[in-house]
Amino acid sequence: MAENRVDFPDLIESEADLAEVLSRPSTDLVEMMRRIDGDLVLLGISGKIGPDLARTALRAIEEAGCRKRVFGVSRFTEVGARERFADLDVELVSCDLLDPGQVAALPRIRNVVYLAGRKFGTAGSEGLTWVTNVVVPAHVARHFSGSRIVAFSTGAVYPPVAPSSGGCTETHPPGPVGEYAESCLGRERVFDYYSRQNGTPTALIRLNYAVDLRYGVLFDIGKRVLEGKPLDLAMGHFNTIWQGDVNNQALLALEHCASPPAVFNVTRPEVLSVRAVATEFARILGREAVFTGEEGPAALLSNPTATAEVLGRPVVPLEVMIRWQAHWLLVGGRSLDKPTHFEETGGRY
Ligand SMILES: NC(=O)c1ccc[n+]([C@@H]2O[C@H](COP(=O)([O-])OP(=O)(O)OC[C@H]3O[C@@H](n4cnc5c(N)ncnc54)[C@H](OP(=O)(O)O)[C@@H]3O)[C@@H](O)[C@H]2O)c1
Repeated sequence: MAENRVDFPDLIESEADLAEVLSRPSTDLVEMMRRIDGDLVLLGISGKIGPDLARTALRAIEEAGCRKRVFGVSRFTEVGARERFADLDVELVSCDLLDPGQVAALPRIRNVVYLAGRKFGTAGSEGLTWVTNVVVPAHVARHFSGSRIVAFSTGAVYPPVAPSSGGCTETHPPGPVGEYAESCLGRERVFDYYSRQNGTPTALIRLNYAVDLRYGVLFDIGKRVLEGKPLDLAMGHFNTIWQGDVNNQALLALEHCASPPAVFNVTRPEVLSVRAVATEFARILGREAVFTGEEGPAALLSNPTATAEVLGRPVVPLEVMIRWQAHWLLVGGRSLDKPTHFEETGGRY
């Protein structure tokens, strides 16, 4: 692998700067774009990750000097959803992926990044979460059986484990807690089935908590510290990763798709303590961290050691993420108002 860039700004002041930092393609990614054949489609592009993932891909394609079209598929349900792509050369396609007829009309693109999913609002509308996370993948896996598919999943497919374990490796048996996490395991199983059935090269991205300053576990912890609100320590440990690193790793996974699927834990290697991270935010923000309860014996934790061997190591260090996040909160940077609920121990979202 080539040496990747690590020159980052001290602070991030605006959403334009944020978009730039979130979408920096690594040297490895630029080289990969020169090698892989075909265009790219992002399914479920209009959520938290899609726009900057698309921007990363476009920048990598441009730097590589190659020609690839990038398509973006979603229902675009949120107000202003399409406007977020106004400055990007992405060909947007409105499609409800739950409707097999609409999926059948999608162009068969060689490289698929699958981001569609449903988490929040599961409690009380469990059926919608299950069809979104399990039935949609079946439509997609069948329609794109001749493509490579990188499918986002979550570290929540693992059981909670002791922080001293260092987190679950990719071979750890699944043990999802609650219906959201169970449905995410269902999503993986459907992609796995069709990958084996049709020989579709597939990669499953088990992501633990992307940080993009407008949302994420560091946003949630820092905001509570800033507002003097208590932090519950029951889920006392977590992993996290800069979303720009997620964007690079997920796209690099296109070259490592396999049948049966390759599985990647995408997160930083540190097992982080909520208490320690909140204390660091308190120091930077000039506040006092307030806690309730005690650290539980287990938490949702993944070990990315094997993934780093294949997709490279994340480049944005934890202390940089905390510094950026604290400043973003202090200057009143925009929030997506989408809490992670990382503190939830019973899997109810
Ligand atoms: N962000 C994280 O930190 C994180 C952590 C762990 C795992 N993940 C996984 O990574 C994936 C992407 O994350 P994200 O944060 O970007 O998720 P997200 O914000 O929920 O975005 C997913 C998008 O999928 C689209 N979608 C849902 N149902 C659809 C349907 N029937 N047809 C077409 N589009 C549909 C939605 O857009 P429309 O409503 O406009 O269609 C939604 O905005 C998720 O599946 C999640 O499980 C994310």
